[in-house]
Amino acid sequence: MSTTAQRSLAGLPQKVSVVEVGPRDGLQSEPKFVATDEKIGLVNGLIDAGIRHLEVTSFVSPRAVPQMRDAADVLAGIDRTRGAVLTALVPNTKGAERAVEAGVDAMVVFMSASESHNLKNVNRTRQSSLDGFKDICRIGAEAGIDVYGAIATSFGCPFEGDVPVQSVVDIAKAYRDMGITVLSLGDTTGMATPRLVQERCRALADAVPETDIALHFHNTRGVGLVCVYAGLQEGVTRFESSIGGLGGCPFVPKATGNICTEDLVYMLDECGIETGVDLAQLIAVSRKAEDSVGHMLPGQLMKAGPRLEVHSMDAVATANG
Ligand code: COA
Ligand code: ZN
Repeated sequence: MSTTAQRSLAGLPQKVSVVEVGPRDGLQSEPKFVATDEKIGLVNGLIDAGIRHLEVTSFVSPRAVPQMRDAADVLAGIDRTRGAVLTALVPNTKGAERAVEAGVDAMVVFMSASESHNLKNVNRTRQSSLDGFKDICRIGAEAGIDVYGAIATSFGCPFEGDVPVQSVVDIAKAYRDMGITVLSLGDTTGMATPRLVQERCRALADAVPETDIALHFHNTRGVGLVCVYAGLQEGVTRFESSIGGLGGCPFVPKATGNICTEDLVYMLDECGIETGVDLAQLIAVSRKAEDSVGHMLPGQLMKAGPRLEVHSMDAVATANG
């Protein structure tokens, strides 16, 4: 009989996919250009650690996001032998053509649930984004490449405040009607709360039951992992996170990093949920990521270590009175 520690907590899924988005969402707002070789090393290290779904870059305008200008070269250098699914963001048909040419496994189209963030992020209305995605789906179908969808500002918008759940549902339905049934709800600026997670997951389960939902949180207000827990309680089994908690969004004020991959894996491990990821290896990759970007990252596990990593008593002075 297994111990309580080996079983997942009652009602939570037994197995979860951790989708690494650090190489794209994390690095895109780093002011210093991270060399292509370092990006490739980061992705390969994550695959070594057991991650099997990675958003590795974006095929966006190099003027809008200069850090992603080496997208095709990054893809060309990644180890493709271990079956990891490599995806990339594409905003328009030009991005889709570049992504197909570079050999992505799946393209991710993205738009915001709020009009003002969509205008800031991709310089077009939501309707115009949706209209353009039909051509991207065609390009994907012709190339035999899957198209996934993402919705930014799904839990709130930095320019508009609350985002109605109906806006998220309407986009999810439009995606579904185009054949897009893998959907990520992005919390671009960390405005998600457990109640909003519950509400949105239930509304989508009702409106688009065939769609596979992923949750993408930022830890801007310190409740990223609490929101993951709320998602687990709704049966969600895909969570997006960023190594070391890298991240931010270049097109919103005060944006900070994604939830941290190794902190997420630690939490899932301790809930008895299987991820297939090796925590010690992940922590080593996270430390390398700090070297690559040249500054401290917010992840906590890489600083504190796993809970059973005990210290020698000789390492600290005794508190003599
Ligand atoms: N890849 C490379 N270049 C691209 C491109 C793409 N996917 N899309 C457009 N461009 C180039 C065009 O060729 C054109 O170049 P030129 O001036 O040398 O002819 C220039 O960018 C402007 O093209 P246009 O279609 O008018 O785009 P825009 O200026 O309205 O910008 C986007 C629209 C979507 C391309 C731009 O806002 C963008 O890349 N946004 C991405 C934002 C992002 O990644 N956010 C973070 C993720 S949430
Ligand atoms: Zn994000």
